Amino acid sequence: MTSAPALLITRDELLLDDLLRLAAAAGVAPDVAHDTTSGLRGWSASSVVLLGEDLAAQVARQHPPRRDQVHLVARGMVGDEVFRTALAVGAVDVVELPAGDAWLVELLTDVVDAADGGRGGRARTIGVVAGSGGAGATTFACALGLVAALSETAVLVDLDPLGPGVDRVAGLEPGNGVRWDALVSSSGRLGSRSLRAALPLTNGLAVLTWSSGRPVDVDAASVREVLSAAQRGNDVVVLDLPRTVDDTTAEVVTRCHQVLVVTDATVAGVSAAGKVAAVLAQLNDRVGLAVRAGRGAVPSGQVASALGLPLVVEVAHQRRLAEQVDLGLGPVHSRRSSLARAARSALAACPAPPAVGHLPAAAGVSWAGHGSGVTSGPARG
Ligand SMILES: Nc1ncnc2c1ncn2[C@@H]1O[C@H](COP(=O)(O)OP(=O)(O)O)[C@@H](O)[C@H]1O
Ligand SMILES: [Mg+2]
Repeated sequence: MTSAPALLITRDELLLDDLLRLAAAAGVAPDVAHDTTSGLRGWSASSVVLLGEDLAAQVARQHPPRRDQVHLVARGMVGDEVFRTALAVGAVDVVELPAGDAWLVELLTDVVDAADGGRGGRARTIGVVAGSGGAGATTFACALGLVAALSETAVLVDLDPLGPGVDRVAGLEPGNGVRWDALVSSSGRLGSRSLRAALPLTNGLAVLTWSSGRPVDVDAASVREVLSAAQRGNDVVVLDLPRTVDDTTAEVVTRCHQVLVVTDATVAGVSAAGKVAAVLAQLNDRVGLAVRAGRGAVPSGQVASALGLPLVVEVAHQRRLAEQVDLGLGPVHSRRSSLARAARSALAACPAPPAVGHLPAAAGVSWAGHGSGVTSGPARG
């Protein structure tokens, strides 16, 4: 029986303060061991072990039994000898704080969630970005969400404060439900069930968007919190992302399992999409194209080879789309519409997320192998 989901082993007060703060952010009450003996006592019972750099070598000398989910944690950058200790103790990685803060919160959140019998942040997460303005990203994001919601729990998150609002495109009745402004002003850890219950629904799709008028400023912490809760509480998360990739958007991009750049099949569309894709490709290695076929002279295959990105789906022009949206019917009113068909094949092509406890590496988290020159880059979806 697991006594506490997380065990912290350190005598370093400053490191302990940091770890307790991050655990609190994840809603975890950890056990703390201030010495090797008590650390080894709890070694096998907890779901995750965070071993402080200060006691790591001592623990390694005791040859603790091999187990998964041991992470060596340190404040600031560490040297090669720490990576050797990490290997000796069977740690899966070295987490350098504060660069690895967000990653660690997410790890701990998943661990408690899994211990609670939750789904552990396993939603397939698809980010949609317009290669050029008006390419159809918001429309396609809505189509993805609505089609996913036919068979799974799905949420659509509008992260483009200057877009038309996914509520209008997805056909959400005005009025009820929480929007970004309400979430930003609330504090504390957001439960996945409470997020889903608070959001307005259209045809089973939960939608998070902006209130009308000047959009509130949404800070990175709120976005992180909302995304984690959305991933824990749903099967599919669709994100309508802005074209300008600021720090918050960049972090979100690293957490997608698929990023789709909606690209106009015109020379200008391809040229603009190339710039957007170059930024995204540095953050995620699953960037692919949703090409608005028939909009211009360039065949989809040529768009893909010009951009050096996989063609995930072709999105044909949908007649009378504007009327359907204006009537509040949404973009996939008919299952046979071009957007419904394109959304189905894009969803089928989206990879399943990795299992709980195998988060992709992020800034500040390096795999034990650093000593041999192998250090992880930004998160890969
Ligand atoms: N597949 C499509 N077929 C026809 N019109 C579309 C399609 N996708 C988008 N549009 C239209 O193009 C315009 C811009 O779409 P939008 O999704 O807001 O673009 P973006 O989010 O890329 O700026 C809207 O008027 C929308 O109705
Ligand atoms: Mg848009």
